[in-house]
Amino acid sequence: MTVSRRSTEIRPFVVMDIVARAKELEAAGRDIVRLEIGDPDFPTPEVITRAAEIAMAEGSTHYTQSLGLPDLREALAVRYASHYGVTVDPDNIVVTQGNSPAMLLLFGALLDPGDEVIMPDPCYPAYPNYVTFLGGVSKLVRVRAEDGFRYRPDEVRAAIGPRTKAIMINSPGNPTGAVLGDEDLKALAAIAEDTGVYIASDEIYHGLDFCGPDRTIMSYTDKCFVLNGFSKTYAMTGWRLGYLIAPPEYVRPAEKIQQNFFLAANAFVQQAGVVALTEAQDDVARMRAIYDERRRFLAPALESIGLKIVSPPCGAFYVFADASHWEPDSLKLCYRLLEEAGVACAPGIDFGQGGEGFLRFSYATSMERLVEGVRRLGAWAQGQGLA
Ligand SMILES: Cc1ncc(COP(=O)(O)O)c(C=O)c1O
Repeated sequence: MTVSRRSTEIRPFVVMDIVARAKELEAAGRDIVRLEIGDPDFPTPEVITRAAEIAMAEGSTHYTQSLGLPDLREALAVRYASHYGVTVDPDNIVVTQGNSPAMLLLFGALLDPGDEVIMPDPCYPAYPNYVTFLGGVSKLVRVRAEDGFRYRPDEVRAAIGPRTKAIMINSPGNPTGAVLGDEDLKALAAIAEDTGVYIASDEIYHGLDFCGPDRTIMSYTDKCFVLNGFSKTYAMTGWRLGYLIAPPEYVRPAEKIQQNFFLAANAFVQQAGVVALTEAQDDVARMRAIYDERRRFLAPALESIGLKIVSPPCGAFYVFADASHWEPDSLKLCYRLLEEAGVACAPGIDFGQGGEGFLRFSYATSMERLVEGVRRLGAWAQGQGLA
């Protein structure tokens, strides 16, 4: 029996192996500080949960339109107008079961085999895997700690070739917590306008930007796709609700992929999504303030035990710290920290060669556990003669 080349080319997400080992250790009775996963520790706001219960009780348990419920697409357009001051036509929104399927719609509608997508190294590992799966080619452009993990626009321009279809951006970013500012987005939008290459902007961490306002690429250029969803900001990872905003000519192609592969997002979840947008903004602000407090603690605390953070993180809920002076092999270091210190974190290599030597710490966990995690890491480093 042979396994398809397509599936063998997909790289595993190594942090999931760390999760599995952490769970094994916990099952054996060990206390592990879990800083490896980007899943909010908050329960979904009650107003959203209640809305889903009501929708289910009222019979919202059938297929919806493949593009999504008109009410949700309308509410998203209203939210974009109030939050960013941009006009989004609800007809250009395709509702999906999370941000992840929206990536398949985007790349599926855009790429032919051999087409290229520029992406930052390090980046969220699903991007290159989606592109490879569809027969495309990822062109990795290194982003460096000393630049705040932001692209150098001249390097992006230099990477563009005749087959380049899109430039991937993710701000606030996973794994780095980096945020692209006004100047960065202007420069990237200018490249898109000059070359005809689209910007594909993953805005899943909007609402978790601690250094300035959320900036959508749509404020800068029409030559863009936006990926977004409810997982992070609304603490709804398990609900599976997201969306793609596409240029008009790509909506029908994306809709056809959605019709065939997924049919539609869950009906009652979409209804809860409307309530999330319209009634949960106080909850979002409350969670955001707590994340910010943790961020302000965690970055300096990790520095105080000897890890290096050249550019402090401004968004998402990650601190990406240079640990190469402790151990250059980030995977090896992660396993050692898990087994020997009882702290789980994500190895930088999981996000590309550009992440090697770094560790990603998620602060989607309580302040008490963060304090304990840093204490254990500090003690471990001291025991090794590193701190
Ligand atoms: C950058 C980025 N995009 C997308 C996703 C996946 O989002 P969803 O849960 O909506 O599929 C994640 C999850 O960690 C992420 O970090």
